[in-house]
Amino acid sequence: MEIQTDFLILGSGIAGLGFAIKAARLGTVAVITKKETIESNTNYAQGGIASVTDEADSFEAHVRDTLEAGAGLCREDVVRFVVSEGPERIRELIDWGVHFTRATSSKATQDYDLGREGGHTYRRVLHADDFTGREIERALVTRTGAESNITIYENHFAVNLITRSKITGDKRSPDRCLGAYVYDVDRDVINTFRARFVLLATGGSGKVYRITTNPDIATGDGLAMAFRAGALIANMEFIQFHPTCLFHPEAKSFLISEAVRGEGGVLKLKNGSTFMERYHPSESLAPRDVVAKAIDREIKKSGDECVYLDIRHRGKEFLTGRFPHIYQRCLDFGIDMARDFIPVAPAAHYQCGGVVVNGQGETSIDRLYACGEVSCTGLHGANRLASNSLLEAIVFTNRIYEKIAGQFNDKSDEALVIPPWDPKGATESDESIVISNNWDEIRMCMSNYVGIVRSNKRLDRAKRRIDIISQEINEYYWNFKITPELLELRNIDTVARLIISCSRLRKESRGLHFNIDYPDRDDKNWHRDTVVSKSILREMNCVP
Ligand code: FAD
Ligand code: SIN
Repeated sequence: MEIQTDFLILGSGIAGLGFAIKAARLGTVAVITKKETIESNTNYAQGGIASVTDEADSFEAHVRDTLEAGAGLCREDVVRFVVSEGPERIRELIDWGVHFTRATSSKATQDYDLGREGGHTYRRVLHADDFTGREIERALVTRTGAESNITIYENHFAVNLITRSKITGDKRSPDRCLGAYVYDVDRDVINTFRARFVLLATGGSGKVYRITTNPDIATGDGLAMAFRAGALIANMEFIQFHPTCLFHPEAKSFLISEAVRGEGGVLKLKNGSTFMERYHPSESLAPRDVVAKAIDREIKKSGDECVYLDIRHRGKEFLTGRFPHIYQRCLDFGIDMARDFIPVAPAAHYQCGGVVVNGQGETSIDRLYACGEVSCTGLHGANRLASNSLLEAIVFTNRIYEKIAGQFNDKSDEALVIPPWDPKGATESDESIVISNNWDEIRMCMSNYVGIVRSNKRLDRAKRRIDIISQEINEYYWNFKITPELLELRNIDTVARLIISCSRLRKESRGLHFNIDYPDRDDKNWHRDTVVSKSILREMNCVP
């Protein structure tokens, strides 16, 4: 079946739904989401959304903090517009029904309570208790549900982008995106979604690593699709590890927000001694890359599996008020934050690189836009400042909307016939063990060899292993019928290869990329992005 729409949006987190609300003013919108609508990284965001809303703070300070965290690779023009457009977008979120926690102190100089997180020199993080993402997602789902122009397709898995060059064989530059093949999981069919504008809003790829704060949807599908379609990708070596994921055998991916350290939580070793003073003047509130690296080092030194966060001194009344969700979740695992140390360890959290876009969210493929964690806008550089991600997404949804509003009437390419999906004689698989084994192997390999601390030897080893796995996945993919698990496996494999390729290319240490064979930052040779695409990597003989 072919479904026609003005806008095809892949993903239903803050980027997808935030854009859908605006795009619906122009035309029909189809939002494709692979599980339930709310299932997204957005829904799990805790700390909040950074923006200058207090008169004691300033745009200049937010810009400075973002540039400082980004270790020389942020695009300053992008940082400036994201920071300065933030307050208006926050007001829009509030108009759309997001309830941020209000200030209660009589000394407060503004309406909302502001949290503090690592790398921020001011309190500037708006939050909804300790579950900001759930509140944002709730409001966006409600709002999109009220728009008659928006149709949300749940349990629909985007498989591949459709580009003009794939259909016509014409390699004209630039290529143009015409839609996507989408797997309707419940009906077990692949449909063609044809659109005048396509937005990739598929989020990040934390599941490429064994331990991650991300939910299961984060398998880098959009990034892999864009790469297959020939889009430029950049900076995939910069994977952010959040320093404080709850360390408990039954606590799958539960984050202890940086806001806990913002409210006085201190990192300690098992014996109760502090260690962060040896690594950074801001101690437990140092930028994330510094804290994650310090914890990694201390864990390797002591042989322990985790370190601890101590916030007992803030007392139960404060903790249950400020962190109701985190307090309860810890209690579920027998940890009372008011009485006990919280065991924590770093976990893969955020993909700073992604599909390269300009200031209007345009990728290197015409009519293909990208927004949110899947994109690389230049805001984060080599390391994202805490709570800048939700902000980036919401600022770019508006910029993309404004850009498209100006070209909405161009209807060229609509006569092109798009062939239906060709299953190429694939049959039912009787060996699904291949999928789970390869999935585990990739994640283990990435955690062991392409984690917080890297070396040339580890990266080479990772490449050799992933090359073998990739070959096996490729053969399997073309012989057997598609399932969501197979599609995700193929995508995490592609993302793993991109992370390894970018990491091997960058011969220095900067921000989130630390290679012991090049321990120093090398501004002379490496003050630039690591930009790759399928054809660039082929030329360099980096991708099989
Ligand atoms: P997501 O919200 O992840 O949405 C992606 C969507 O795409 C999902 O709906 C998914 O199902 C869909 N999708 C993916 N692949 C496909 C496919 N093939 N077909 C169809 N649909 C697909 N950032 C902050 O700024 N502040 C915070 O406090 C904060 N806390 C965080 C806490 C946690 C635990 C995590 C994991 C992240 C946190 N982040 C935070 C990061 C932030 O939440 C994300 O970067 C942001 O929400 C990404 O939004 P997005 O819309 O780009 O992607
Ligand atoms: C957190 O609450 O610690 C997550 C904030 C972020 O990832 O920006």
